[in-house]
Amino acid sequence: MDRLGVGMIGSRFVAEIHAESFARIANAELVAAASPTEEHVRDFAERHGIPKWFTDYREMLELPEVDAVILALPNYLHAQACCDAAAAGKHVICEKPLCTTMAEADRMIAACADAGVTLAYAEELCFAPKYVRARQLVESGALGEVYLLKQAEKHDGPHADWFWDVELSGGGVTLDMGCHGFEFFRWMLGKPEAVNVYADMATHLHGDRTRGDDDAIIIVEFDGGARGMAEESWIKKGGMDDRAEVYGSEGVIFADLLRGSSLLTYSETGYDYAVEKASTTRGWSFTMYEEAWNYGFPQEMQHFVDCMLAGEQPLETGEDGRKVMEIIFAAYESAGTGRKVELPFTPPPDATPIELWLGRD
Ligand SMILES: NC(=O)c1ccc[n+]([C@@H]2O[C@H](COP(=O)([O-])OP(=O)(O)OC[C@H]3O[C@@H](n4cnc5c(N)ncnc54)[C@H](O)[C@@H]3O)[C@@H](O)[C@H]2O)c1
Repeated sequence: MDRLGVGMIGSRFVAEIHAESFARIANAELVAAASPTEEHVRDFAERHGIPKWFTDYREMLELPEVDAVILALPNYLHAQACCDAAAAGKHVICEKPLCTTMAEADRMIAACADAGVTLAYAEELCFAPKYVRARQLVESGALGEVYLLKQAEKHDGPHADWFWDVELSGGGVTLDMGCHGFEFFRWMLGKPEAVNVYADMATHLHGDRTRGDDDAIIIVEFDGGARGMAEESWIKKGGMDDRAEVYGSEGVIFADLLRGSSLLTYSETGYDYAVEKASTTRGWSFTMYEEAWNYGFPQEMQHFVDCMLAGEQPLETGEDGRKVMEIIFAAYESAGTGRKVELPFTPPPDATPIELWLGRD
C-alpha cells in the first residue's frame, strides 16, 4: 500500500484543521467523513472534496477504502469509536485527551493491539516546528541537564458546549489543555516516568457554565528529578497563548508558539482573523499566519500516515495518551486532596478525572 485512505469522524473544529492538513499530504486522502448532523457533514465533505459522507460512522467503517480513521469527536465518544474502528480493522488517530477513564484507555489500547492496528495519539505539540527545534537543542546537550520545563496553554474558554459539561468532557481545563503540557514535558525529557504530581485548580470565572476547573497550575516531577510546571487557563483574554520555557544547567530556551510567530499588526478598522479565540482585531494585534503548520498539525498527520503505511509505531501512541491520562488523574486527585500524589496512581477504573476533584476542594 502506498497511499492511505482516511475517514474523518466528526466535522467541526479540529476536523476542519485536520482536513486542511490532508490537502498537503501526498500519500493519503480523505475518502469519507461521518458526523451525526447531515447538513454539517455534507457541507464539510463538499468543501474538502471528500467523496463520501455518512451520519453514522459505523457505515463508514464498512468502506474498504478507509484504512484509518481520525477521531475528531467529543472526549466521551473516543473510546467506543476507537474500539469500533479497530474491530473493523482500521488504524486509529485519536485526538487528545485519549479518553475519559482509565478503563476506556485500557480498552482502546487492547482493541487496537488485538486487531493489529495502530493507535496514534494526536499530540501536535511534539510536531510543532518551534518545539521540535527546542527538543533538538535539548538532545544535543546545548542546555546541559534540563531541570525545569514550563508550558502554558491559555485562552478564554472552549467553543463548544460539551467541553463545559463535565459529564461529556470528563474534566475542565486541566484535562482539556493540561494534556498538551504533560506530553510536552514527557517528550522533551525523553519520556521518563512521572513520579509525583501537585496541582491547584479553581473555577474562577465560569462557574455559571461549568463545574470543571477553568484555571490550574500543575507541577509534575519526573524520574531523574526534572520538574514540569503547566499553567492552564480558560479565562485568559486576548486570543490563544501557547508558550514554553526549558531550563538547563548550561542554558535556557523561551518559546512562544503564537505571538512569537506572528505579525504585529495595527488596524483601526479591524480585520477578518488574527488568531484562535481572539475577540477583537482592532488596535494592535498579533496576526498568525500558517497557524496549523506552526502548531505542527500537518507534520503530525504526515508522520502518522507514513508510520501506518510502513507498519511502524508512531512517535505518539495510545500508551503515551494513557501516561498523560495517569498524570491528569493524579493532578485532579492532588487538587482534590491538597496533597502531592505519587505515581503510579490508580484511580477507580470508571471514574472521570473531574470526579477526583469535585466536592473535595
Ligand atoms: N489538538 C488540539 O489542539 C485540539 C483542538 C481542538 C479539539 N481537540 C480535541 O478534538 C476532539 C473534538 O473537539 P472539537 O473541538 O473538534 O469539537 P467540536 O464540538 O467542534 O466537534 C465535534 C464533532 O463531533 C461530532 N459528533 C458528535 N457526536 C458524534 C457521533 N456520535 N458520531 C460522529 N460524530 C459525532 C459533532 O457533530 C462535531 O462534528 C476533542 O477530543 C478535543 O479535545 C484537539
